[in-house]
Amino acid sequence: ALERTISIIKPDAVAKNVIGEIYTRFEKAGLKVVAAKMKHLSTKEAEGFYAVHKERPFFRALVEFMTSGPVMIQVLEGENAVAKNRELMGATNPKDAAPGTIRADFAESIDANAVHGSDSLENAAIEIAYFFPATEVCPR
Ligand code: CMP
Repeated sequence: ALERTISIIKPDAVAKNVIGEIYTRFEKAGLKVVAAKMKHLSTKEAEGFYAVHKERPFFRALVEFMTSGPVMIQVLEGENAVAKNRELMGATNPKDAAPGTIRADFAESIDANAVHGSDSLENAAIEIAYFFPATEVCPR
């Protein structure tokens, strides 16, 4: 089905100047960017976005990393966009990521892992609404 998902290019990948290379992977896989913004997240914004992880031991480090520099946030639209984006990203830990995936090619560690992608269609809707009012999403 036609789906939308959130993708975040994290501070490590923005600093490496590979936004365009990552966008090319989305486009080659048939995913369209239908909303995008660059943002330096505040602590409150990062905590709110990752609220589901707030009891996890890595929560503080995650929030610190995600606020360490600007991120590029985009809504991707396409057939099976949630799963397709997760396939392109590869495993959370780049050590386990399949060759040719974004994390295998650009990520350094489980913390600095280049990209975030929604893990389900329900979470995608929540995450899209967190960053983009409906008027900022441009179906095409
Ligand atoms: P992300 O998809 O952005 O969702 C939560 C992030 O927490 C994850 O990517 C990792 O970068 C980070 N993280 C750090 N340690 C872990 C862990 N043990 N399990 C899952 N995520 C972790």
